[in-house]
Amino acid sequence: MPTPTYVRRSLHRGGAPVPPLALGSWNTWDRMTRDEAVAVIRRAVELDAGFFDVAYYNMGPHAENSKTDILFGQALRESGVERSDIVLCGKLWLWDWPNQGFRAQLVESLERAGLDRFDTLVVGDYMHAPDVARLVADVNELIAEGLVGSWGINNWRIEHTREALAEATAQGASGPVFAQLKYGIARRAMAEGDAYGPLFADGTLTLQASDVFEGGILATGRTPQRKIGADVGGIREQIAAVYPEVARVAAEFGVTPAALGIAFCLANPATANVLFGASRLEQLEQNHAALALARDHGAEVRDALADCWVDREVRADGAW
Ligand SMILES: NC(=O)c1ccc[n+]([C@@H]2O[C@H](COP(=O)([O-])OP(=O)(O)OC[C@H]3O[C@@H](n4cnc5c(N)ncnc54)[C@H](OP(=O)(O)O)[C@@H]3O)[C@@H](O)[C@H]2O)c1
Repeated sequence: MPTPTYVRRSLHRGGAPVPPLALGSWNTWDRMTRDEAVAVIRRAVELDAGFFDVAYYNMGPHAENSKTDILFGQALRESGVERSDIVLCGKLWLWDWPNQGFRAQLVESLERAGLDRFDTLVVGDYMHAPDVARLVADVNELIAEGLVGSWGINNWRIEHTREALAEATAQGASGPVFAQLKYGIARRAMAEGDAYGPLFADGTLTLQASDVFEGGILATGRTPQRKIGADVGGIREQIAAVYPEVARVAAEFGVTPAALGIAFCLANPATANVLFGASRLEQLEQNHAALALARDHGAEVRDALADCWVDREVRADGAW
């Protein structure tokens, strides 16, 4: 196991420290050759990014029947990377839950990727409020069975996150330990606002930043043709408009806009991990520069980007 170059934080109080960077699976492994995927996995372990989000994109807005998770599993086996050197995060969807139960979803997801266990998992977002008491109980059955170690939520409304925490206490069960939220230079309301803020400040939850480049827009200035994440608040044009300023600040710090975007997220003390998509080895190599930048100049990065905050009018509580 290579020596980490950045101070690792835990996803939850008292938990094992995790790499500061994580690689997403949506539209990534299925856009690489097998050789490149193997190289990315090996290099990720060396570059403090041996943390992989592995989801089966097969439901609701993601009824894409993607094979990205299968391809990841194949490349992982071929990489020879030790299971104990990486963190694997699974995903449970709420679109058809409880019709499609969590256990069936998780077992299918593990089998597709050829894995026997996830270290943690994320329970996805929803159109209609879920039955939170049942949800907490169902996730805890998976924990009791040893299929997963802990769990977090993805872009949930704050009232449901608080309800899950309260339910877990009432049931004597494990509640969510981290929140995977859309977060980046331009989109800060939910991760930094007064809804989730207190839970981060008192250590109840840690933050996993996701969609940090807005699907790539804040890394390149271009909007990809492929599907990218939801545009909460309908502010994507404004986000694209701040790219020139992001690129200017990145040049001042001598890094790429992508590395600057990750450093911005890491400079928030609530952040345990930054999850991004990389479709080429070169992107991973470039993005690793964020660690040194955040370590040495985190506060300056945040100051320099103060005017790039676009979603001030978007609700902080996750309702939209
Ligand atoms: N998007 C969401 O709303 C959302 C919600 C929940 C979970 N997640 C998770 O978060 C992960 C990441 O989200 P995402 O892929 O939607 O968005 P993202 O991380 O904001 O964008 C990823 C894209 O940015 C581009 N990029 C990355 N590094 C670059 C570099 N150094 N230079 C130039 N371009 C670079 C690549 O585009 P090209 O491939 O086009 O070059 C890459 O595919 C997903 O895989 C998923 O696991 C996302």
